[in-house]
Amino acid sequence: MNPLSNLVHFVRESPVGLETVFFVSVTVLFGLYKLLTHTDILYIRGIPKIPGALPVTGHLTQPGEDHTTVCEKWWRQYGRSVFQIRLVNTRAVILCTFHGLFSSIQGFTIGSSPWNESSRNKRKAASTTLSKAMMKNYDDMFDLESYCIVSDLHCDTESGALEASFRPYIQRYALNTTLTLCYGIRMDEAYVDLLREILHVGSAISLLRLASENYQDYIPILRHLPKNVKNARSKDLRKRRDNAAILKDEETRLTGVETIPGTLVSCIGSLCTPESVNDFEETIPYLNAIVKEAGRYYTVSNMSLPRKTMSDVRWGEAVIPKNTLVLISAQAGNHGTYYWGPDAGTFNPERWLDAPTTPPSLYAEKPISSTPHLSFGAGSRSCPGATIASKLFNAALFRLLSLYRDEASVSDPPSTDYIDYNLIKAR
Ligand code: HEM
Repeated sequence: MNPLSNLVHFVRESPVGLETVFFVSVTVLFGLYKLLTHTDILYIRGIPKIPGALPVTGHLTQPGEDHTTVCEKWWRQYGRSVFQIRLVNTRAVILCTFHGLFSSIQGFTIGSSPWNESSRNKRKAASTTLSKAMMKNYDDMFDLESYCIVSDLHCDTESGALEASFRPYIQRYALNTTLTLCYGIRMDEAYVDLLREILHVGSAISLLRLASENYQDYIPILRHLPKNVKNARSKDLRKRRDNAAILKDEETRLTGVETIPGTLVSCIGSLCTPESVNDFEETIPYLNAIVKEAGRYYTVSNMSLPRKTMSDVRWGEAVIPKNTLVLISAQAGNHGTYYWGPDAGTFNPERWLDAPTTPPSLYAEKPISSTPHLSFGAGSRSCPGATIASKLFNAALFRLLSLYRDEASVSDPPSTDYIDYNLIKAR
């Protein structure tokens, strides 16, 4: 007799009867199903959920490698800019909107540092060092570092005769300004090994922080598997970070080192494509508009670090309970046609300008709100480096655009698509 027939025979002969066995089995299966699909926060009424959740993992595997773009796709596919998903046992609300809800979610940021006394103090120190009032103290730094970009480019391209990639010079620019602010030191060479190692480790660490990439955050048992690739990678990066002594300080945030080159290099790419070869007014309002458009269009920090609501948040008829995980797609919020108009997907600095009314007059800057776009986040944990980042863009672009007529490489053209470019931004 095979095992199945054995089981049937056993159940038939059992003194408790077929009905009882059936009832117990169904209850156990139902309990198991509930255990595997329960969530920390119950389904939030009034916020649509994305179909297709798998029984155990929910939506965990669906966002893939570029989860902000998948969230943006869901938003366009289902026509809802706020929706909920399930990451194993964690309910998450995704915001793809440029809406007031964004700044009302002042939750703590997990994955980097929780909102406690220590992080409050650090934030206060960063905000003071990076405040508008302090900017005039850094004029010499902006001047020296932006000068080094053009002077090295001048030498390395033999006065513009040879083709060169801007990226290494801009990476050194971002790293040197951060090192000067934090330690009062800088590096001369754009290709020195230590500089390349710091840049590589810095951006690799930031990729480890992606919200839905870290399956072990949602399935704790994975942390204990002997061959956990994420653990091994984290350990390797930690070792390399410690070896590059400069990065040893746990408190150091090298945020600008990854974000500034990503934005600036792509912005230059957009300005020198065949359609727009250096076609701009050489004025301060136009330069400021290029800087704002670069920030909006190339949303380098495209998905916020995961946050949790600190209190119940009302959204129309719905209430998002305290402690709900919230993920904000700044990339989607920066490209919604409902807010930015039909050319939301185009790099167009003139959206920030009023066109000249009579031919000899020039473009004038439009007044902007305190959160012109979502690339620096919003609310209490928004980027305290936003002012210095804009100054750095202005200084570098001013030198590069006023001294050079930039042309895109034919053999290695820039990737100017706001999604594709994001996939290569960490290189
Ligand atoms: C293009 C340039 C930059 C972009 C796009 C950017 C973007 C961001 C974003 C999106 C956040 C998280 C905000 C949130 O969770 O709501 C952040 C946090 C932060 N950024 Fe930036 N950033 C840039 C440059 C800089 C620079 C140059 C510095 C410093 C010199 C800096 C320092 C920081 C710090 C310290 C935080 C943490 C704030 C906190 O935890 O409360 N950033 N940045």
